[in-house]
Amino acid sequence: MGKIHVTDRDGGQHEIEMSPGDSLMEPLRELDGGIEALCGGMCSCATCHIFVAREWADKLEPVEGDELELLEETECFRPDESRLSCQIVFRDELDGMTFTIAPEE
Ligand code: FES
Repeated sequence: MGKIHVTDRDGGQHEIEMSPGDSLMEPLRELDGGIEALCGGMCSCATCHIFVAREWADKLEPVEGDELELLEETECFRPDESRLSCQIVFRDELDGMTFTIAPEE
């Protein structure tokens, strides 16, 4: 078990419990001010876009392929912080991870 710290689109703060293997996308869909995740995690919509704080971004797999292509097409792309939450699986090393949900496109 671990926790993530999320700032939603309205500026609200949330602490969410996670288990290893959980997709970051799932709990973010449940939040008011959360994500839409229109494609259901198939890496084809970019409505699950988040900005990961830099100290945590370094702990993630590098962004590449379809994820990078989709992110680069968003209006608010940040090269060092943008990720698709559906492509991140929680693991113990991410306990305490902090991020902000990107604005709606
Ligand atoms: S939910 Fe569609 S790209 Fe992540």
